[in-house]
Amino acid sequence: MDPKDKVVIVTGASSGIGEATARQFGRAGAKVVLAARRVDKLQTVAQEIEAFGTGAEVHVVAADLSKLEDIQSLVAQTLAKFGRIDILVNNAGFGRLDWLENLDPIKDIAAQIDVNLMGVIQTTRQVLPVMIKQRGGAIINMCSMAGLVGTPTYTIYAASKHGVHGFSEALRREVKPWGIDVSMVYPGGVKTEFSSHAGIKRKTNAKTPNFMLLTADQVGSAVVALARHPRAMWILPWLWTPGVWMNRFVNWLVDYTTITRFTIPEREDELKAK
Ligand SMILES: NC(=O)c1ccc[n+]([C@@H]2O[C@H](COP(=O)([O-])OP(=O)(O)OC[C@H]3O[C@@H](n4cnc5c(N)ncnc54)[C@H](OP(=O)(O)O)[C@@H]3O)[C@@H](O)[C@H]2O)c1
Repeated sequence: MDPKDKVVIVTGASSGIGEATARQFGRAGAKVVLAARRVDKLQTVAQEIEAFGTGAEVHVVAADLSKLEDIQSLVAQTLAKFGRIDILVNNAGFGRLDWLENLDPIKDIAAQIDVNLMGVIQTTRQVLPVMIKQRGGAIINMCSMAGLVGTPTYTIYAASKHGVHGFSEALRREVKPWGIDVSMVYPGGVKTEFSSHAGIKRKTNAKTPNFMLLTADQVGSAVVALARHPRAMWILPWLWTPGVWMNRFVNWLVDYTTITRFTIPEREDELKAK
């Protein structure tokens, strides 16, 4: 699908990957609906897109994706403004990363599931009847490497993203007959505000090596490419792919490495204290 003049909803468009994705759809001349809670940030992005001179139109919607009424309002406002929905990018999400027992049951655990998983499901559920009626559309879900491989401190985040993975795979096979394509993106580390919300500081200083780190623009480009040419899964960068296969077929090796290299050194003080 050529994004020019197409109606695109991007959730979590106030920063990072969502912001970059919205800009790229703007450059392609789409009608972009920007959704998130920080309206001031959305308005700045909207002004920048309008200044591109590509014929792009922008509409800003304040929405907390953990609230069904906000999701319903997002879809209603999009239809009132543009009359259809061609592309849905379910991107809003965050991670609170820590040992499970340290995570707050409401603020960390329920909130991550509410936004990262339920937000994706409920937004898709609201948009789907519109796309079915149109007999076409593209849904692009922002998954993560954590949706394929679980690692310590990522328990809830991984649960939410594994949920997005399973939801998207089932949905893809459910809606294809209506001309609706469901694609998924699985980025590794991306330079965004994500880590400032994440919480835990790693004692082992384990982090994604620089050559594997992506920019938000690289992921945004992938999302626009998926609108043009849908595909089931896109792992970014491709260098993570052997890790995904290892995790599936030599799971014990990934267990051993993760536990001895990361978990035990990071929990050493707690273990000694007990
Ligand atoms: N950065 C990474 O390394 C990485 C890797 C793989 C996947 N991802 C995924 O990429 C997506 C975007 O993350 P990012 O890295 O771009 O982080 P980011 O810069 O922190 O952006 C997160 C976006 O989600 C929005 N959001 C969070 N909670 C929300 C809520 N309750 N309602 C509506 N919007 C909400 C934020 O907007 P407001 O705060 O304004 O509401 C913001 O626009 C997430 O789904 C994340 O899991 C990130």
